[in-house]
Amino acid sequence: MSINVALDGPSGAGKSTIAKTVAAKLGFVYVDTGALYRSIAYYAITRGADVNDGAQVAAVLDGLAVRLTYIEGAQAVLVNGENVSDKIRTPEISMAASAVSKYPEVRAFLLDTQRSIAAENDIIMDGRDIGTVVLPNAQVKVFLTASAEERANRRYKELSEKGDPSTYEEVLADINQRDYNDTHREIAPLKQAEDATLVDSTSMTIEQAADEIVRLVNAVREQPDGSKKKSELKCSDRHKPVMEVRPITKTHKINPIRQGFYNVVRPFVRFIFKHFFELSYEGVENVPTDGGNIFASNHRSYGDPVFIALMTRVPISYMAKEELFKQNIFFTLLIKAWGAFPVVRGTGDTAVIDTSIEKLESGRNLVIFPEGTRSKDGKVGKGKTGVALIAAVAQTKVVPVGINFEGEKLCRKKKVVVRYGKPIDPAELGTTDASPKNLKILKKEIMNSITELVH
Ligand code: DC
Repeated sequence: MSINVALDGPSGAGKSTIAKTVAAKLGFVYVDTGALYRSIAYYAITRGADVNDGAQVAAVLDGLAVRLTYIEGAQAVLVNGENVSDKIRTPEISMAASAVSKYPEVRAFLLDTQRSIAAENDIIMDGRDIGTVVLPNAQVKVFLTASAEERANRRYKELSEKGDPSTYEEVLADINQRDYNDTHREIAPLKQAEDATLVDSTSMTIEQAADEIVRLVNAVREQPDGSKKKSELKCSDRHKPVMEVRPITKTHKINPIRQGFYNVVRPFVRFIFKHFFELSYEGVENVPTDGGNIFASNHRSYGDPVFIALMTRVPISYMAKEELFKQNIFFTLLIKAWGAFPVVRGTGDTAVIDTSIEKLESGRNLVIFPEGTRSKDGKVGKGKTGVALIAAVAQTKVVPVGINFEGEKLCRKKKVVVRYGKPIDPAELGTTDASPKNLKILKKEIMNSITELVH
């Protein structure tokens, strides 16, 4: 029975040096999972993809084979057969790796590779989510940390020795940015597993930290059933949810003051909108009469949240980019009154997921524009995974919506057709948890349904 040691922690905590030392002392294989994320970043860049665009990164994965191998005892990483071990160690790739690691498609892509190595060898594997997601049954879990300043200091020395011109301040800023990215992403964020041992290496030598891990491994080896935990894990277990499911209760009634306000304002706004546009609706029978549903729509104009909500009996909430709240006070009050809450685009912030679920729990409907941005030509773009993640975690229905008008801009007297499609129920689809595979299925279903409603 092989022994697995999961070593997680922030950038620059000394994980790789310490893990190599432990591996040498114990005769284990060292697996540097950061190199896998770096390789994807490297490949995405060489293929001309924007690493800040999840859809572009996901699109290049089909043509990619990443393999870990060992050349003269050292780990080497091969991208479609090319040894990229040195090329992936630049500050640019570090930041790009942090960016690509937040996409569920990327994490799902690497999961089996990591698990199959662990299934076959005594290993020490370092990364961010090894103890929490990749090897939740590892016999030894360590969370290695150190102060940001100490980590920057170490990284700065390492880079200077290689002739890199970065200053200490730049390295520290980089470390802080990556810490923020790694701990705030939606999927598998960096965090200490509940059963991990915390090792703070700020004032420890490499030897001391390595010896502490060796001691933990030996303690497991001495137990007669020490390696039992790991046998429960199958390497093809792709169903590990990326976030815990928290089905919302549909019994929540909306705050009566808000509902009363909405009952008065909605007919008034409808009157104005019908006067301004040639507005018509199709599929209104698909709009649920209760709240707590997601409306996923293509995005054409700032009027969309109003178009969608005019046929819902309970008020909506919707995500709006943060910049919209800084334009002018009148506009801010208007969109807030209509249910807007701010989201910082591209951060993958888990707080947005929590806020969204709170809104659904409070009985409101939640409007999401999965494309993330408005489409000028009316074509439906690629969707982001957030909508599927919220639906899967909350286990609530998604009503697809298609907003149609000709031309680029919404202007007076324009003919606007809003179509509601049949609600998609995650339970009926069999997507009862938020595993990467289920998120993919759910997202595909949502985006296909929206596309069918746009014509
Ligand atoms: O450990 P590293 O600096 O080489 O990792 C590069 C990036 O990859 C890091 O910013 C976060 C990401 N990563 C991850 O998300 N999960 C892992 N298991 C390993 C690395």
